[in-house]
Amino acid sequence: MARVRVDPDRCVGHGRCYALAPEVFDADDEGHCLIPNEHVDGELEIQARVGEESCPESAITVEDD
Ligand code: F3S
Repeated sequence: MARVRVDPDRCVGHGRCYALAPEVFDADDEGHCLIPNEHVDGELEIQARVGEESCPESAITVEDD
């Protein structure tokens, strides 16, 4: 189990996170990242880490929960 978060001050809307891992990340009306459910495990945790690694702004963090 892990907790995935986005820092709204760092997210500028590159959109790589929700393009690569749409089951974990969503977009608001301006294309910034939203995370409907911060608690992930299994395949969703793997996807969350894909999003973390994909963000050029390092806006996403995944921590063990
Ligand atoms: Fe934002 Fe990074 Fe995703 S800038 S939209 S968190 S790829």
